[in-house]
Amino acid sequence: MQDRQEVVVVTGAGAGLGRAIAREFARHGAALGLISRSPGRLEAVKSEIEALGARAVTMSVDVADATQVERAAERIEAELGPIDIWVNGVMTTVFSPLHEMSPDEFRRVTEVTYLGYVHGTMAALKRMRPRNRGTIVQVGSALAHRSIPLQSAYCGAKHAIKGMTEALRCELMHEGSAVHVTQVEMPALNTPQFDWCRNRMPRRARPMAPVFQPEVGARAVYWAAHQRRRELHVGSSTAVTIWGNRLLPALMDRWLARSAVDGQQTAEKEDPERPDNLWQPIKGDMGARGRFGRESKRHSGQFWLTTHRDQVGLIAGSLLLAGMAWCAARHSQRTRHLVADQRRS
Ligand SMILES: NC(=O)c1ccc[n+]([C@@H]2O[C@H](COP(=O)([O-])OP(=O)(O)OC[C@H]3O[C@@H](n4cnc5c(N)ncnc54)[C@H](OP(=O)(O)O)[C@@H]3O)[C@@H](O)[C@H]2O)c1
Repeated sequence: MQDRQEVVVVTGAGAGLGRAIAREFARHGAALGLISRSPGRLEAVKSEIEALGARAVTMSVDVADATQVERAAERIEAELGPIDIWVNGVMTTVFSPLHEMSPDEFRRVTEVTYLGYVHGTMAALKRMRPRNRGTIVQVGSALAHRSIPLQSAYCGAKHAIKGMTEALRCELMHEGSAVHVTQVEMPALNTPQFDWCRNRMPRRARPMAPVFQPEVGARAVYWAAHQRRRELHVGSSTAVTIWGNRLLPALMDRWLARSAVDGQQTAEKEDPERPDNLWQPIKGDMGARGRFGRESKRHSGQFWLTTHRDQVGLIAGSLLLAGMAWCAARHSQRTRHLVADQRRS
């Protein structure tokens, strides 16, 4: 245990999952460097963090710009001290078939959602490697393993983050570094992205059910940041998607082709004129949660199981041994009775 306050950077901290993550670390007493674009939302998160008794520095930064991210890291360290944990959690997307996207849109989603993580990872490594300590958490998704229709650029970026992270993990191992990198694969979450990301579909966007509250993801990130797990899958839907795709990818193609276009839209008509956050932040404090609260789960049994797998393994192992001992005892009792019967007859 360290005696000074843990210093944690969260990118995408202004809203959605990033905001829930920042609050989760604040509740555990961390000092926070908060990165996203809208200064108004950053101030709102800062007030929440301070109300929880923690310190926070806000940096209004576009993560697509590596120089801005590097400057933010410099300022956060100057104000809070050495960074212990860096959480990459920024995203944007365009809900659209690939053939309707412009090259500029595709590039922008990639620059924010993928290169934003690369820039954050570089800024973190620059500080953590020489100190030989620190943890980088990549907020991932089931979609880092299995792409879905209408989100080609986003899914491509999520796959790319996984690719980059695996290469980095090997490099850190090769040099014997104690810096740890982990990826937390999220299920669908009830965040504001479905109201402010660009949508070219006729109906309003929604997460593919089942949906979890962002606090479930935030607790997973906090847990992963303090363990040495390579990857953490959150929610049974995430585990089923990842394993289903490993085992039966062609069947998954067909199932997603049938279900995931409608599955990502509500019945309400989309307003084609509504503003979106692709190039600039939009106004308003959206908070951590989106508009799907009524259907969102607050807990994940699978998350509990995977984070208690040693205890679960121990209990399962003990039950198995007890069962085997019981069977053996029954068998020998039966054998004794048989032998006794034979002697009598
Ligand atoms: N929601 C889900 O269903 C879901 C599922 C799986 C994984 N995830 C992952 O969870 C993470 C957060 O997603 P979310 O749903 O919480 O998204 P969100 O609600 O749209 O929030 C995105 C955050 O990123 C910031 N941001 C966007 N573009 C930025 C840029 N160019 N530079 C800096 N900050 C930027 C936004 O604030 P500003 O606009 O003020 O910059 C906001 O704070 C992402 O890694 C996403 O892939 C989400």
